Amino acid sequence: MKNLTYNFLIAAILYGLWGTLMGAWMVFAGESYLSQVHAHINLVGWVTLALFGVFYHIYPSVSELKLAAVHFWTANLSVLTLNIGLWMFFEQQGGFLLIRAGTVLVLLSFLLFLVLMCRTRAA
Ligand code: HEM
Repeated sequence: MKNLTYNFLIAAILYGLWGTLMGAWMVFAGESYLSQVHAHINLVGWVTLALFGVFYHIYPSVSELKLAAVHFWTANLSVLTLNIGLWMFFEQQGGFLLIRAGTVLVLLSFLLFLVLMCRTRAA
């Protein structure tokens, strides 16, 4: 994928904005029942995707592979499904299926990352 690092960083910043806005809302509204959603958007979204982006900057040879694009979309889908599911769960609106899908996608995302980072030795 072209501009993979840039795409990962922009996505990470958007999740960081979403997570910190939730944090600010929790402070001003005096609510903390969504703190785990806030934590997962910040850590699985902002921190993890920013790190992925930085690694592709360090190892640009693998960022052009089709698998790297699959990794980008898997990572984004994992953040969205996990956090929308968690949000629904803490609002007592279900969300179990999305949480399960998100869990599998987070695992898959790390597995793809491992495979791609192993490819840097060959590239
Ligand atoms: C504007 C910035 C932020 C604000 C206002 C904020 C606010 C809060 C608040 C009010 C809580 C709930 C505390 C409680 O349960 O009583 C919390 C929890 C937490 N925040 Fe933030 N936060 C911010 C940014 C971040 C960032 C950038 C990260 C991580 C990269 C982060 C990670 C966490 C974690 C791990 C928890 C604990 C969640 C839990 O135990 O349920 N926060 N934050």
